[in-house]
Amino acid sequence: MTNEFRTLEAHSAEYFGDTRDYWWNQDFIELIGRRFAFEKVHDVLDVGCGVGHWAQVLASALPAEAQVIGVDRDQTWVNEATERAASRGVSHRFRYQLSDAQALPFPDARFDLVTCQTLLIHVADPGVAIAEMVRVARPGGLVLAAEPNNVASSLIMNSMGFNDPVEKILAGVRLQLLCERGKASLGEGNNSVGDVVPGLFVASGLTDVTVYLNDKTNAFLPPYSASEQRAMLEEFQDFESRDFWIWNRADTLRYFLAGGGLEAEFDALWTSVRDGIDRFVKAVADRTYSHSGASLNYLVAGRKARESGI
Ligand SMILES: C[S@@+](CC[C@H](N)C(=O)[O-])C[C@H]1O[C@@H](n2cnc3c(N)ncnc32)[C@H](O)[C@@H]1O
Repeated sequence: MTNEFRTLEAHSAEYFGDTRDYWWNQDFIELIGRRFAFEKVHDVLDVGCGVGHWAQVLASALPAEAQVIGVDRDQTWVNEATERAASRGVSHRFRYQLSDAQALPFPDARFDLVTCQTLLIHVADPGVAIAEMVRVARPGGLVLAAEPNNVASSLIMNSMGFNDPVEKILAGVRLQLLCERGKASLGEGNNSVGDVVPGLFVASGLTDVTVYLNDKTNAFLPPYSASEQRAMLEEFQDFESRDFWIWNRADTLRYFLAGGGLEAEFDALWTSVRDGIDRFVKAVADRTYSHSGASLNYLVAGRKARESGI
C-alpha cells in the first residue's frame, strides 16, 4: 500500500502516500544542511507535521542526537506520526503532539530550528503562524518553510495535453486559480502562498531571508518501473478511481463558488479536468504518457535576530 492513510477522514489524507518520500533530492537536503549549519541544531519543531515526512527527510542532515517535536492540529496525524516513528525505530528522536500552528504551546526561544512543509498553504493567516514560529525560535535560530506555488503547475504540460487548445488549458488554469482564491477566502489557506512567504518572513522581523527552489522534479517516464514512478502511478490511479482532482468534487465546487466561479459553468470544468485523468490512464496503458514533473516549491529561510549584546 503506497498510501495507507488515503481513506482517513483527516486533512490532506490523499497526499500522505509514498510519493512524499520522493519530494527532495538527498544531496540537496545535505546542501541545505551545510548552508544553514545544521551541525549546530539540536532542538527542532516541525509545524503541521502530518505523519512526519518532512522532519524525517531533514533529519538525515541533522546531528544524530537532534530531537524533533512535530505538532499538528489533527489528532489522527499525531497518532499516525507517533506510530510511524515507532515502526521506523526513531521514537527516541521524534515525538508528536496536538497543537494549532497559530498558537504554539511552547515558551519563547525554545528551538534551534522551526520548520514547516506545505503547512502555510492551509492556514487562515500565514503571518500569524510565521510569527508563532519566530517566537519559539531561539535568537539566532533558523526558521525554514517549504511552501509551493501550486497554481503554476496548471501551466506545466505533459506529452498528452501539450497541444491542447489554448482555451482548454486556460480553463484549467482558471478553475485552479478560482478554487485557490476561494479556499483562501474560506480561511483554509492559499495553495500558492509560497510566492509571498519571503515577504512575510521579512515582515515578521526575520533577518538574512534567503529563497531557494527545491531542485527535484518528479519526472514520470515509460516504462514507469522505478519505485518512485510506481508510487506516483498508484496515487494517480487512486485519484482516478475516486472522482478526485486536486480536491474531491464537493470541495472543488465549494472553493470554486467561494472564489467567484458560477455554478452553471462548474460541470463543464470538472468534466474537462477529470477527462484529463481518464486520458492519462489510457496513455499510461499505451506507454505513451510522460511528464517532466516540474513544480514550483520554495524553500524560504530566515534567522531570528539576536538580542543586542549577545
Ligand atoms: C499538506 S499537510 C503537510 C504535512 C507535512 N508537513 C508534510 O509535509 O508531510 C498539512 C498538514 O498541516 C496540518 N494543519 C493544517 N492547518 C493547521 C494548523 N492551523 N495548525 C497545525 N496543523 C495544521 C494538517 O492537519 C496536515 O497534517
